[in-house]
Order: sequence, then structure tokens, then C-alpha cells
Amino acid sequence: MEDPFHIEQLARTPAFIYNLGEVKKRATFLSQIKNKSNCKILYSVKPLPLYRVLEEMESLDGFSVSSFFEARLVQNACKNGKEVHFISPGIKSDQWEDISTAVNYLTFNSLEQFSFFESRLRKQSYGIRVNPEFSLIEDPRYNPCREFSKLGVPIAQIKSKISDDPDFFKKIEGIHFHTNFESRDFSHLTETFSNLKTELADELKRFKWINLGGGYFFDESENLSLFYELVDELNDNYDFDEIIIEPGSFLVRDSGYLVSSVIDLFRRDGKNIAVLDTTVNHLPEVFEYQYEPDVLGDDFSNKNEYILAGSSCLAGDVFGVYRFENELELGSKVIFEKVGSYSLVKAHTFNGINLPDIYCLEDNTGLERVKSFTLEQYVHYYGG
Ligand SMILES: Cc1ncc(COP(=O)(O)O)c(C=O)c1O
Repeated sequence: MEDPFHIEQLARTPAFIYNLGEVKKRATFLSQIKNKSNCKILYSVKPLPLYRVLEEMESLDGFSVSSFFEARLVQNACKNGKEVHFISPGIKSDQWEDISTAVNYLTFNSLEQFSFFESRLRKQSYGIRVNPEFSLIEDPRYNPCREFSKLGVPIAQIKSKISDDPDFFKKIEGIHFHTNFESRDFSHLTETFSNLKTELADELKRFKWINLGGGYFFDESENLSLFYELVDELNDNYDFDEIIIEPGSFLVRDSGYLVSSVIDLFRRDGKNIAVLDTTVNHLPEVFEYQYEPDVLGDDFSNKNEYILAGSSCLAGDVFGVYRFENELELGSKVIFEKVGSYSLVKAHTFNGINLPDIYCLEDNTGLERVKSFTLEQYVHYYGG
């Protein structure tokens, strides 16, 4: 069988493999959009802040981070002076100086947060996050425009602040929103902006930059032209010096694989169960969202059906039902696909099941192990 991931070279499983060629391809794709639209494009590092991945973002303008740690990480990884933009609902007072020295742009999440830090502003460019109050995500756990949202300032509040105290936003140069997740429909973005422009009208002209957030997949989009039209509208009708986007998942999701091995096989209530040496806690969004991740070789028309289960004591540590051409055996490899984003960053060692090794795959040099987690690290984490 063809082995595009050089599985035979893995020292052991489970293992995350990140295909750097795929990351580079996506970054290049975005840099073409950047050249065509004259947008600034940042990589929002939260889905995967892996050094080797950050290094592949050379063709983009910089990074969007959510914490001091992320900010320092990108500074350490990329010594070539790329811009760092910061946005978070949580800025601790005692971290202000550290954050300030690590970032070039900083977006406040609330008017209160801005007022609290106003006397300590430095030379960064500051922005405010607006909640455009245009819901695109049904599940309130992931919808920044949900009722009682903590993310961003409602438009009405921005409007009334401007009319009560026109000088309030004097030191705020930018406006930011982020409202979507893995969408390939750019009408979502244009409708979101439309809502903003209807409500804020000319007040939008007071801002020097606008950041349209992440949450979009740019390939295979049927209406990417709407994105270009929106950028044209922003350029023609407003005074923005910079139009910024900060995709995350698009750049890394499809580059990530989790390779696992079958360690037990049995039947329960008439179904085949295959227990793997991994767990949903290595792909926590499987449990969080209750979705079935793609598995290489799974096809509805295949005869050999298995419930793939993780090896923790959690009854719901189950990936789903899959069908393979050949019967699984002890030691068979099961490869989860499209798991590059929000997996490694959320993975944990519940039950003492070690984190997967991390490998990077390069077109020229093949597979390289960049990290293994040891028993000593595990013991140390728990105070040993
Ligand atoms: C403010 C902000 N920008 C960008 C992103 C990246 O979004 P995605 O990875 O869906 O592209 C997120 C994700 O939560 C975010 O909160």
C-alpha cells in the first residue's frame, strides 16, 4: 500500500503529523489573495502555534495572538520582525507591560477594558472589538454574537458612547470583529459588514483600520468574489489605511493527521469495537462538538464496519462508526485526517495517556520528529 505519510518511519503511535507542504500551499494561496486585494493577512495562531508551522507563514504579514505566551512564542519563532496583533477578552493588569512590548496592535474587547488601561497606552496601534450582532453560528457555545455575549462591544453601545463623549475613541485607531467558523460562504462576511455599516454609518469613517477576523475557508469557496467586492467597498467608501483578515484554521486544518494503532478488538451487542492507542482527548473537539473525524480509507461501501474507540475510561471516548476495505487487526494503523487545528492545543493527558509525538512532513526531507512527551514531563506537571 502507498504510504504518503511515511508511517513506517514512526517510532511509535499515537503521532500527530503536520504536512508543512500543505501549510505552505495555503499560505501561498492567501498571499495571492493578499496581493490581489491589498489586504493585510495574519495567521491567527490559536489553532496551531507550532514553531515549524509559524515559520511557513513567511509570505503573510504577521500573526494574531490571544495571550502574552502566544505573543512571545511567535516573537521567538519568527525573528524577522513580522507584525503581532493582540486580541483577547482577558488582559491581566500585571501582564500589561509584557504584552505591550510584545505586540504592535492591540484590540480591546470592551470599553471598560480600554478605560482601565488608557493611562498606560504606549506606541501600539489600538483597536476596539465590536459585536456586529449578526449571528451566523447556531450553537451558542461558539457564537460570538449570542445573547449576553462577552465578545466585543455591541454596536449600540459604541454609537451612544460616540455621541455622549466624541473624544472617547480618540486613541482608538481600529475596529475589529470575528463572528464565524469554517465558513466557505462570503455572503456571511458581507452581510455582517452590511449590518455594521447600517448601524454605525459615518462613524465607521473615524477608524484607520478594520480587522474582519477569521472563520473563513478561502479555497473551494463559491463566492470569493464577494470578498474582493467587500474589500473594494471598504477602500472606496471609507478611510481605512489597512484592511486586515486573520484566518487560523484554514491555514492548518487539512495539514494535520493523527496516526494511531489498534490495540484491542472485540464484539459488543453485535458490533465490532476497535480500541485505539489514542483517545478523543487527543482530538478534544470530537467530544466537544460530537463530530466524527475523517479517517483515511473509510468508505460507506466497504464491508468491515468498526466502532473506533479511544482507550480512556470515559464511556463516550468514541470516534464513531467507520468502514474499511480490509479487516482491522491488532497493530493496524488508523489515520485521522483534517485534524490540524484546535487538536494539539487542546489535547490533554486524562488517564495518564501520553500526548502523541509530533512529526513534521516536508516534501524534500520526509518525516522528522520534532517533539516527544516523556514520563518525566508528565510527573513534573503533577508536582513530581
Ligand atoms: C478573534 C479571532 N480571530 C481569529 C480567529 C481564527 O478563527 P479560525 O481559526 O476559525 O479561522 C479566532 C478563533 O476563534 C478568533 O477568536
